[in-house]
Amino acid sequence: MGFRQDHLLGIEPLAPDEIREILDLADDYVALSRSADKHADALRGLTQINMFFENSTRTQASFELAGKRLGADVMNMAVAASSVKKGETLIDTAMTLNAMQPDLLVVRHPHSGAVDLLAQKVNCAVLNAGDGRHEHPTQALLDALTIRRKKGRLHRLSVAICGDIAHSRVARSNLILLGKMENRVKLIGPPTLMPSGIAELGCEVYENMAEGLKDVDVVMMLRLQKERMDGGFIPSEREYYHLYGLDAEKLAHAAPDAIVMHPGPMNRGVEIDGTLADDINRSVIQEQVEMGVAVRMAAMDLLARNLRARRQAA
Ligand code: NCD
Repeated sequence: MGFRQDHLLGIEPLAPDEIREILDLADDYVALSRSADKHADALRGLTQINMFFENSTRTQASFELAGKRLGADVMNMAVAASSVKKGETLIDTAMTLNAMQPDLLVVRHPHSGAVDLLAQKVNCAVLNAGDGRHEHPTQALLDALTIRRKKGRLHRLSVAICGDIAHSRVARSNLILLGKMENRVKLIGPPTLMPSGIAELGCEVYENMAEGLKDVDVVMMLRLQKERMDGGFIPSEREYYHLYGLDAEKLAHAAPDAIVMHPGPMNRGVEIDGTLADDINRSVIQEQVEMGVAVRMAAMDLLARNLRARRQAA
C-alpha cells in the first residue's frame, strides 16, 4: 500500500490509509518543528515553486517554511490575480515554469479545476493550495491533524461546518475527508449559502445554529467569501452575525468539550466572536496554523519520494 499519488490535487482521490499516512508523518514533523534544529533533508536538491494567483497569508507562508525546513530551494512567484486568465495564459505560465525544472509546484488559483489542468502539462509533482470553490486539500489535512490530536481520534466524531458553505473549498475538502474517515458531518448555514444537492454527499443540512450544533465535538467556522459572491447572499453582516456568528451562547449547544476551528482569515464579529476566537480553552485556531506547516512538510515529502521513484524507474 503506502501513499500512491503523483500529485495532491484534492482529498477526493485519497484513500483513508493515504490520509492516515500523511497525518502520521505530519506528527513527526510537528515534533521536528518544535525542536531547536528544525531542519531535515527530505527535499534536499529539489526545487519548489509557489505560484499563488490569489491572496494568501497562512497557506503561502507555511508552504514556504515547510519547503525550507526540508531543505528544498523555494521560489515564490508573485502573480497578481487580476492579470490572470484561465486557458492559454495559465498553460503558458506552466510551460515556462516547467522549463526551469521544478520538482514541486504549489498552485493556488481562483478557477476551480485550474490546478488539475496545470498538473497535466508539467512533469513535476503539483500541490493544490486552493482552486476556486473546488478543493483545498492541505487545509482539510491540517484540520484533520488538529482534530486527531485534540480528540484522540478521527472517526465517529460529530463535526459541524458552519457558514458560507457554497463558496468554500475548505468546506468541500473537509466534508470529503471527514466522510472518508467515517464521521458525522452537519452543515449549517442560510439556504442562500448552501450549495444545492450537497446532502447527496452524505451530510446533514441545518438552517438553524442551535439545532445543528447540538452535541457536536467540533465546530468549524467559515469566512464569508465575499470575493466569490456576485450578489446579495446575506441581508447584512449584523443580521448574519446574529443568526450564524459563533459566540459562547451558541457554542453552549455543542458538547461541553467541543473545539472551535477557523481556517483563517477570520472576520471577527461577522462569523465569530473575537473573544471566543482567542479563548485558548475552546479555540484551536493557532494550533491549526502550526499543523499547517507540518502537514505541508509531510505532503511534499511523500510526493517527492514518489517523484524520485518514478524518475529512477524511467
Ligand atoms: C481559506 C482559503 O483560502 O480557501 N484560507 C486558508 O487557506 N487558510 C479560507 C478563506 O479564504 O476564507
